[in-house]
Amino acid sequence: SAPRITVAGSVNLDLVARCDHLPVAGETVLGGVFAQHPGGKGANQALAARRLGAEVEMLACVGSDANAEAALSLLQADGVGLAGCHSLTCAATGIALIAVSDSGENQIVVAPGANAAFTPDLLPDIIDGALIAQLEIPIETVFEAAARCTGFVALNLAPAADVPGELLQRAHLIVVNEGEAAFYGLDRLKAAGGLLAVTLGAAGAVLCRDGAEIARAAPPDVTVVDTTGAGDTFVAALTVALLEGQTDADALTFACAASALSVTREGAQPSLPRRKDVDALIAAGNTGA
Ligand code: RIB
Ligand code: NA
Repeated sequence: SAPRITVAGSVNLDLVARCDHLPVAGETVLGGVFAQHPGGKGANQALAARRLGAEVEMLACVGSDANAEAALSLLQADGVGLAGCHSLTCAATGIALIAVSDSGENQIVVAPGANAAFTPDLLPDIIDGALIAQLEIPIETVFEAAARCTGFVALNLAPAADVPGELLQRAHLIVVNEGEAAFYGLDRLKAAGGLLAVTLGAAGAVLCRDGAEIARAAPPDVTVVDTTGAGDTFVAALTVALLEGQTDADALTFACAASALSVTREGAQPSLPRRKDVDALIAAGNTGA
């Protein structure tokens, strides 16, 4: 049966401009056409898990504004459960200002709005099944969600922030990129005791258990259009595959293939791949080394 996953996290509206290079401090860059997409690491991971075949419930906060509807539109369209999404009057729907360069790299500033007002009292008393959380909502809320979860806890430590050791120990799976790994310290993450996945961009990802490498996967060769949402796709895909009982190596290959597909398309949520496309890519044997 399909994995049941609750995602506790952020919902944003992404305001995106493409540019030939990312600006440095003080620089103005004349970019291309403006685009607006639903985003937020929490919502992206929820939608990715849903499109890969899981039953998904989203716990989040949005504002009571027009952006909320736009931000939730794709979650709604794909059947992510939104009963745990609160509409707050005290804050605006989260906004992410995103610049994407011709090489597909991005720069993101998030104005969290309602995401920052997602306090632990807005969580359900018990979270049945698996949980995925990230760090775009208050850390106390992430901590409480993990504490109230009866099943597998996947923690994406993004964006980098101070986290209590107790939270790391509560996680069965921790996912970071290379920058985050350096921020937290690999030794500290390995010492937490669960599975640790480190994404390496175009070089794929490694998976460690008890501090030792148990699997490594390279992504398929793809044309990079926009890397926004690639990390979110990886987190969701790896969690879904592990919950399905795939082997560590197969799960890592699946996650790398899913995130590779996401970088071939514009935007975060519009680019999140569907299960059949990931399965087809893997079946085609183009799964890197
Ligand atoms: O991980 C990508 C996401 O980060 C974007 O969708 C943006 O909303 C920010 O939260
Ligand atoms: Na993308």
